[in-house]
Amino acid sequence: MRRHIIAGNWKMNMLLEDAVALATGVAQNTKELGGVDLVVAPAMLAVAPVAKALKDAGFTHLKVATQNMHTVPTKGAYTGEVSAQMLKDAGCDFVILGHSERRQYFGETDAGVNHKAKVALAHGLTPIICIGETLAEREAERTFDRIEFQVRAALAGIDDKNLPALVLAYEPIWAIGTGKTASPEQAQEVHAFIRSILSKLAGDEIAQQVRIQYGGSVKPANISDLISQPDIDGALVGGASLKVSDFVSLAVSSNA
Ligand code: 13P
Repeated sequence: MRRHIIAGNWKMNMLLEDAVALATGVAQNTKELGGVDLVVAPAMLAVAPVAKALKDAGFTHLKVATQNMHTVPTKGAYTGEVSAQMLKDAGCDFVILGHSERRQYFGETDAGVNHKAKVALAHGLTPIICIGETLAEREAERTFDRIEFQVRAALAGIDDKNLPALVLAYEPIWAIGTGKTASPEQAQEVHAFIRSILSKLAGDEIAQQVRIQYGGSVKPANISDLISQPDIDGALVGGASLKVSDFVSLAVSSNA
């Protein structure tokens, strides 16, 4: 039985005071939910204050992620970058890797995502690895080829036994920030396909343990239909994670 996992990707939003208020508001209103894992991913500068505020208030159920990290795990001359060790030190437990916006605007590659995933796993961070096809790829019926390529590339060289420790997030690019959600059936079809690739890579038993989130215009109105699909284990949420009431509603609907 896979625990649902809802993660809020705040992207480049929220000044410090608002970030702390959002995270503590979410934590306060979800502390009774025992059947869902919850994660917020503030912008890099807000990660430490958010993690500290949650810790000081005694909230341990809401975990903190960043939206990226560098491949070098400790320190060095890499101007502008942040390492896994620094993220752990700041109170982070998760890291979102390979988001389509990072691939599109910052040249993130499949090989880079794979490298970062290995570093994250080796340093006690749970990677949330994003994959997804563009609208052009979907229309050209290349969705499955694209997804298979991305999954295999992201997981290359990762020990089978470590796969259950990571999370995959299927985010069709045409559904991100567009209000156009994949239908539950469209999403389930791809999630089942991803799980079939995991089975080929590592066997059924391991494939059944890996959590696969859906992302792309997830909101309180559509979460129930998505989360009730057999291979959808949670959501990676952008816009709707920026309001306490919306994120709490997503968490409540996903609480098993
Ligand atoms: P939206 O929920 O705003 O569509 O964003 C999805 C996303 O990119 C989460 O990582």
